[in-house]
Amino acid sequence: MALHRVHLNVAPGERIALTGTNGSGKSTLLRAVLGLHRQAAGRITVGGREFTTAAERAWRRRMCAWVPQRPATGRFPLLARELLASSGDTTTARRAADTLGVGHLVDRPVDSLSGGQLQRVYLARAVGCVGAGAGVLLADEPTAALDFDGQGEAADLLLSLPVTALLVTHDRALAGRCDRVVEMAAGTLRPVR
Ligand SMILES: Nc1ncnc2c1ncn2[C@@H]1O[C@H](COP(=O)(O)OP(=O)(O)O)[C@@H](O)[C@H]1O
Ligand SMILES: [Mg+2]
Repeated sequence: MALHRVHLNVAPGERIALTGTNGSGKSTLLRAVLGLHRQAAGRITVGGREFTTAAERAWRRRMCAWVPQRPATGRFPLLARELLASSGDTTTARRAADTLGVGHLVDRPVDSLSGGQLQRVYLARAVGCVGAGAGVLLADEPTAALDFDGQGEAADLLLSLPVTALLVTHDRALAGRCDRVVEMAAGTLRPVR
């Protein structure tokens, strides 16, 4: 079991940084919230709702903007602009791509982008998801592949979003700007401050 006795209540609008050693279960927690892992026990609610039906699952997916730790490039030559459009709000996602300095790369296949460029495209996609109605941001090491300027720009953008946010990060500057920091250790959470 990757997670056990995890209790975390996130208030609406609260921004939480989730830190902790490699392999401690941070990504597993985010993925569990998204429903990508089957739960053996416990309850996970978003907006007060659990999900069991396909309709509830679809609502949860729309509600959560996700920045994955290992962005998939897909089996097909997916273009960056198609990835941005999949957010549901192309205009907002394209504007965020411009802000993050990847607006000129939208006609490139995502598997031709550098790690940092791809991470910026995924960040811009998440901003588009928020434009399309997502109220929760689940970002998994969203600045890990970015250069120093990019880390600051991405933090500014993420923290400007009108969402409840759970950010997995080892970026002290980003963690320091969140409302709360919690640390994952061997599948369990503890408060840092
Ligand atoms: N798909 C998987 N199958 C089996 N074990 C996994 C899988 N994904 C992650 N794990 C294991 O679960 C634990 C937690 O992983 P993860 O949540 O990715 O850690 P973190 O994000 O904190 O670095 C690790 O021991 C990892 O090896
Ligand atoms: Mg991880």
